[in-house]
Parts: sequence; structure tokens; C-alpha cells
Amino acid sequence: MNTSSNPIEQSFELAASRCTDLTPHVYQRLFEQHPETRAMFRTQGSELVMGSMLALTIEAILDFAGDRRGQFRLIACEVASHDGYGTPRELFIAFFSVIRDTLRDLLRDEWSPDIAQAWDRVLIEIDAFAGVPA
Ligand code: HEM
Repeated sequence: MNTSSNPIEQSFELAASRCTDLTPHVYQRLFEQHPETRAMFRTQGSELVMGSMLALTIEAILDFAGDRRGQFRLIACEVASHDGYGTPRELFIAFFSVIRDTLRDLLRDEWSPDIAQAWDRVLIEIDAFAGVPA
């Protein structure tokens, strides 16, 4: 596998070489940091929804930090639909930091200054992007 030159992609590639599924790590952290989110997911079939929500969010982040072919638009669309699920915008945005923190813990000494800076930048950009009405 070629290592990507995009630090955001790199961080996901490195995480994938260390763990087969990010899902339990991300949601464990989400539920610890924002306990109120546990009750937001349906009681039946929530694993599928949570897995799919994370996969789509990761695709959107990669596109946002990469070529911006289109998947990044999900972010703006989902701010509005999550309003309907009772997820305030600040909490919606917090999901991206939860993903970043999960990767950082998994990567440990492979979490380079380049990767850290790219994540700082992308989180600020996503915050600005999601603030704009879709
Ligand atoms: C802490 C922040 C978030 C919370 C608490 C949250 C909560 C939820 C809940 C409760 C559902 C399921 C609704 C149902 O049962 O049908 C859902 C679905 C979904 N969420 Fe989130 N969400 C968050 C952040 C995000 C972000 C940042 C994105 C993407 C940019 C996203 C994308 C989606 C998508 C695409 C679905 C539909 C999944 C599917 O059924 O295939 N969510 N979210």
C-alpha cells in the first residue's frame, strides 16, 4: 500500500494498520465524553446505524481534506438532519474531534506534528463549513 502524502489520509491509514475497526473505539470515547449521546441512538439496530454514521463521516472527512469531489457535502446536509434527531450543532461538530482524538491515541508516537497540524486545520475548517446553512 502506498503511503498517502495527505496527513489526514495518512492518519487513517496508520490507524487501519493498528486496528481493524475504529467503531468501538470512537463510540466508547463519544459516550465517555458526551454521556447524553448514548440514549440518542435507537435501542435496536443501533450498531448498524453507528457503524454507517462513522463510515460516512470518515468518507466525508477524507473528501473534505482531499479532492472535495462531493462526499464532503454530507457534513452540511447532516447538520440539518441531526437538528431533527435532537443533536445540537456543537455536539455534531464534537464528533470530528472524537475521531481525531481516537486516532491520536491509536497512533501514539506515529502521531506526527504534520498530522496534528493538518487535523487542527481541518477541524477549524469543518466548524466554519458546518456553520454555513446548507
Ligand atoms: C456527537 C455527534 C452526533 C450524534 C449524537 C449523532 C447522532 C445520530 C443518531 C441518533 C443517528 C440515528 C438516527 C436513527 O436512529 O435513524 C444518526 C445517524 C446518522 N448520522 Fe449522526 N450524529 C452525530 C454526528 C454525525 C456527524 C458529524 C455526521 C456526518 C458528517 C453524521 C452522520 C450521520 C448519518 C449519515 C446518519 C445516518 C446513518 C445511517 O442510518 O445510514 N452524524 N446520528
